[in-house]
Amino acid sequence: MEPGRYLAEGLGHCSACHSPRNALGGEKGGRHYLTGGSAEGWEAPALTALSRAPVPWTEDALFTYLRGGYAVHHGAAAGPMAPVVEELALLPETDVRSIAHYVASFNAAPPAPAQITTEAAQYERRSAQAAGTLGGPAARLYQSACAVCHQSDQGMRQFGVKPSLALNTNLHGDRPDNVIQVLLQGMPAPPNSSLGAMPSYADSLDDQQIVALTQYLRARFAPDKPAWQDVQATVARLRAAPAH
Ligand code: HEC
Ligand code: HEC
Repeated sequence: MEPGRYLAEGLGHCSACHSPRNALGGEKGGRHYLTGGSAEGWEAPALTALSRAPVPWTEDALFTYLRGGYAVHHGAAAGPMAPVVEELALLPETDVRSIAHYVASFNAAPPAPAQITTEAAQYERRSAQAAGTLGGPAARLYQSACAVCHQSDQGMRQFGVKPSLALNTNLHGDRPDNVIQVLLQGMPAPPNSSLGAMPSYADSLDDQQIVALTQYLRARFAPDKPAWQDVQATVARLRAAPAH
């Protein structure tokens, strides 16, 4: 067996979360392998050509993310992915490189780095334009509660790295689940110490505020995508689920 595949499955159990399951709960393989699954109420995004990542994942970006919990054109490993990164940190670096190589093989060859930088800048620009057209209570809430950490263009940059939501797969996905989860749970201990932590808003925001904020985040950071339809029901469902 290819070493990357052995490591990805034997140690990392990637497909346990990232592959869909059949009616009996078994992992779907073949063309379904790594095309997206779920874990503990979080969506485990597709890692194949079906990925919703705005900027394509490269082998290097996968390595950086798996090794350190953060990739600059993507974001941080939150929720059930955070402990996976902690476990991968115990492996030799070459093993994590093999896993990155193996996962990258399920994607088309990515564009050149300069092209990726250009695409990333375009997403940021489109998001900044969208921000100018949006207002109302959710916009004000974002400005007062979130912008201090998430808007490095405001001269209040808090971290060594910029947590750009315009490039985060979760904002571009088909479902709002992970955005709602991170608002409810925060990121108590991000796997990358240069990131700082994100607080939980489960107690300080009510359901209506979380719904409005989630819809605002979608409109602002993924302006080319349709609004999510099931935000209210998803907030209610994820709130009701027992915290793990
Ligand atoms: C316990 C479940 C679980 C396991 C095991 C797991 N993942 Fe994940 N993974 C997730 C979840 C949930 C997310 C979403 C995290 C977030 O929202 O920040 C994620 C996110 C990711 C992402 C970011 C995708 C994107 O577009 O933002 C990559 C890459 C990834 N995982 C790769 C892997 C690899 C490779 C393995 C095996 C070594 C693995 N994962 C094992 C649950 C898991
Ligand atoms: C104290 C700093 C801080 C505050 C305040 C904060 N965040 Fe975050 N947030 C972070 C960090 C650090 C990350 C991880 C970096 C990343 O994913 O890009 C993050 C990640 C996220 C993510 C992506 C999670 C994932 O799974 O990848 C979303 C969505 C998010 N924040 C939304 C918000 C919203 C909305 C607010 C306001 C209600 C907020 N944040 C307030 C620091 C903060």
